[in-house]
Amino acid sequence: MPDIPAASRIAELREQLHQHNHLYYVLDTPDIPDAEYDRMLRELQSLEAQHPEMFDPNSPSQRVGSPILDKFTSVEHLVPMLSLDNVFTEDELTAFEQRLQERLGSDSPIVFTCEPKLDGIAVSLLYEQGNFVRAATRGDGRRGEDISANVRTIASIPLKLMGSYPQRLEIRGEIFMPLQGFYEFNAQAERNGEKPFVNPRNAAAGSLRQLDSTLTAQRPLDMYCYSIGLIEGGEQPNSQFEALAYLKTLGFKINPEVVRATGAEQCFAYYQALQARRDQLPYEIDGIVYKVDDFRLQQTLGFVSRAPRWATAHKFPAQEEMTELLAVEFQVGRTGAVTPVARLAPVFVGGVTVSNATLHNMDEVDRLDVRAGDTVVVRRAGDVIPQIVQVVKGKRKKGARKVKPPAVCPVCESAVVREGDAAAYRCTGGLVCAAQRKQALKHFASRRAMDIDGLGDKLIEQMVDEGLLRSASDLYTLQEADLLNLDRMGSKSVANVLSAIEASKKTSLGRFLYALGIREVGETTANTLAAQFGTLDAIVSADAEALLAVDDVGPVVAQNLLEFFANKDNARVIQALIEAGVHWQDIDLADRGGQALAGNTYVLTGTLEGMSRDQAKQRLQALGAKVSGSVSSKTTALIAGEKAGSKLGKAEKLGVTVLSEEQLLALLAEYEG
Ligand code: IVH
Repeated sequence: MPDIPAASRIAELREQLHQHNHLYYVLDTPDIPDAEYDRMLRELQSLEAQHPEMFDPNSPSQRVGSPILDKFTSVEHLVPMLSLDNVFTEDELTAFEQRLQERLGSDSPIVFTCEPKLDGIAVSLLYEQGNFVRAATRGDGRRGEDISANVRTIASIPLKLMGSYPQRLEIRGEIFMPLQGFYEFNAQAERNGEKPFVNPRNAAAGSLRQLDSTLTAQRPLDMYCYSIGLIEGGEQPNSQFEALAYLKTLGFKINPEVVRATGAEQCFAYYQALQARRDQLPYEIDGIVYKVDDFRLQQTLGFVSRAPRWATAHKFPAQEEMTELLAVEFQVGRTGAVTPVARLAPVFVGGVTVSNATLHNMDEVDRLDVRAGDTVVVRRAGDVIPQIVQVVKGKRKKGARKVKPPAVCPVCESAVVREGDAAAYRCTGGLVCAAQRKQALKHFASRRAMDIDGLGDKLIEQMVDEGLLRSASDLYTLQEADLLNLDRMGSKSVANVLSAIEASKKTSLGRFLYALGIREVGETTANTLAAQFGTLDAIVSADAEALLAVDDVGPVVAQNLLEFFANKDNARVIQALIEAGVHWQDIDLADRGGQALAGNTYVLTGTLEGMSRDQAKQRLQALGAKVSGSVSSKTTALIAGEKAGSKLGKAEKLGVTVLSEEQLLALLAEYEG
């Protein structure tokens, strides 16, 4: 005898969990907290464990996967799964509509549904009496593989239909991995030292091919339904658009981008609009599918061989193409980082011709195992820099050799060293290296550094190549005649550049320090150093201990500073810059009460009205105070602005003094000059 109260509770929980599942995964509108859902699921799991006689493969508890299969069984589709013809241009689309009109003997525009063509895996799902009974891959269109166990784990696929469902229903759709899930999954795989998937489509395919459905359950898969294969004993929709609306009422997820359009022109407008948004969609699509909307017209039109006459796919330009990798070269950045770049036989991909692709670092080169002469798959999606996603190993030529990091810099031939055990390699040439010099000079002239207007990247590169610039100080001895010889430089632009260079002489210590391009000394660190030490001499002669006492300076930055100033070339360049007239106002600490707040530690919280927290921090530091991020018993005072949060509570608990913005201003006024 079944246990009546348990049986009804199990039924109730299953019913409620199906509902919540639909709200959460299909409609994206959960109405209970996740914790409550989990609690209900745990209760169901525990009741089911006590009552194995009530097992139901469609219970919400079965989403976690089921016992491992030996192999997939082959199943026959009730109705064959067809493929689609393609059009690639607007003209071909117009011709497609014309052909249909001729067949139908009418010249009125045809009503189509326009649907995004998802790049995933086509599947068919069979339901009987509202229960999920089977899922199959497309296979050869007549027979596919039974992947029911895996499909059951996909949360947005209903295991029980809702509303007024037909007795028997077979629907088709696309299972895919949304982009966010794909990126997260790959990041996790890399952290675990596993091989990432090449693209979301492969990720979806690989996930569905698992014989262990508990693995599939952990993959972020989703599904949009796009057609009915078979429908018996129930409502009969009259059009594709109605069919999709009906499927939605049964609990299926339907792509919200689907529209009805009249005539080829409207279809093409939709194609263009969606293509423009292609990179903002949370999943990958490779085109648009147009389907004659009216089912009676579909029937009249019928099929040719394995594709319907009443539908076609309009493909977007491919985002992945194959090409030959001509060579792996190495580029040198500002701080000497040597990075591999792939030189490619030009290939049209993602709407542009690509002849270079980034390889990031040597780890990436090793992971892909790319070799010169290889056939590679290049991917360019949206505005992202082209990437190599895969080597076509079957096409590798005999004798293709592994790429090795260069022993010497390709630009200056100085030694290249590996950074600890990181994947990064670095040229040791410093400013001897023309590549580093170019980057360093670009940084020196940039807006947040010396701010030399009109001194663009191209101009700097030319000047370095022409031997006009060996170091930043050469900028300040440039003559009109030097510049007039350069490409596209008339007397007007020369005058502008020279006056911008002249104007840049007046700067601040923080900007100057930042402009020097010391590794890992960004703007904030440069400003903090300037405020703490007041003069360049004080910074240059500071020892490790003094540097480490500065907020935001850790051992790495301290070491970089020490090395930079110990280098004779750097000292010469600084000297030359100052001799050329680069100057700034020293921050005279003594005059302003010096290190009046030395030994005190402040914490800032909330919003200040009269200044940013960063400004407050710099002013406190200029007076020798430390500014820390968290309150402790060692904190001198917490400065609390508007909307102060948990730090205020903590300060009060520890009995730390709390100052208002007004009190801060008074404090600063007392010691600042
Ligand atoms: S309809 C008879 N609609 O594209 C019509 N297919 O060759 C058959 N696809 O792999 C397909 N999105 O899975 C249709 N909205 C959509 C689609 C779609 C993607 C895939 C389909 C198959 C290929 C068609």
